[in-house]
Amino acid sequence: MTTYRIAPSILSADFAQLGNEVRNVVAAGADMIHFDVMDNHYVPNLTIGPMVCSAIRPLVDVPIDVHLMVKPVDRIIPDFARAGADIISFHPEASEHIDRTLQLIHDNGCKAGLVFNPATPLDYLLHVMDKLDLILIMSVNPGFGGQAFIPHALKKIETARAMIDSSGKQIMLEVDGGIKTDNIAEVARAGADTFVSGSAIFNTPDYTAVIRQMRERLKELMDETGTDTQYIELGDLYGRMSRYRSALSLYHQGSPEILTDGKIPDSHICFLDELFKSNDGVLNSLLKALNERKYTNEGVTTTIPVISFF
Ligand code: DX5
Ligand code: ZN
Repeated sequence: MTTYRIAPSILSADFAQLGNEVRNVVAAGADMIHFDVMDNHYVPNLTIGPMVCSAIRPLVDVPIDVHLMVKPVDRIIPDFARAGADIISFHPEASEHIDRTLQLIHDNGCKAGLVFNPATPLDYLLHVMDKLDLILIMSVNPGFGGQAFIPHALKKIETARAMIDSSGKQIMLEVDGGIKTDNIAEVARAGADTFVSGSAIFNTPDYTAVIRQMRERLKELMDETGTDTQYIELGDLYGRMSRYRSALSLYHQGSPEILTDGKIPDSHICFLDELFKSNDGVLNSLLKALNERKYTNEGVTTTIPVISFF
């Protein structure tokens, strides 16, 4: 089963209204917030750091996906972990010791990703696959939003997908740069499951409409390919927190009861971080079970949407 995720890049948001922008884009259906960190050294642009991450963290309940375009990279990682990042990815060229940097990210309680520029070979993957939660393929040269998608990235996505599949590991395959409603399906067809999109979302007046169109393109692809890929409509019947609460509630109860109303007593909620540290394996099995169940709400039967890495 593939879970598709749309990760709006706030690089193209209105920084004067950043709090409202992240709230609005999550309300519009975003699955993650993609947070581009640029240092005017590794890339020729300067953006935002851990203080801004801390500021937006309490405003949204989706993962914050921090894309570090900084060199050196290690010193800033604990700062981002403290600021509430969920996923931290970096470019191999920006680290002297890639394996150590991946370990550092994990040691700080975050998921770890490695990012490949258009001309960076995927060879690193042969050596660090077991330490990766995410692979990010750049379909533009990093540094700026609003650039055109580089078609050569499609081949690379296909190769990365094959490597992930043969590894048997659950690793997100994210693509960043020039993703729009008219090419998202092509990128998904190549094997990506997580789509960063900045200007195509934030440079339009209706974020909901763009995200819905992106999901429609993905749905069409799935209908066409007839694979067992499952379309996850995030932001539908239950609110995002209800979904997490459902999972956590079942975890606490120790039995996979079917929930029909999404109302979970507060006593069953615990902190996700603690849960991850305590028993990642149990939670993953639970979420797998949840993903396979049908839920009914107001006469509509659906599969409850749960993000697989939660
Ligand atoms: C580029 C950034 C991207 C960028 C994507 O270096 O990493 O995340 O914001 O923006 P669009 O979708 O406009 O290409
Ligand atoms: Zn990015």
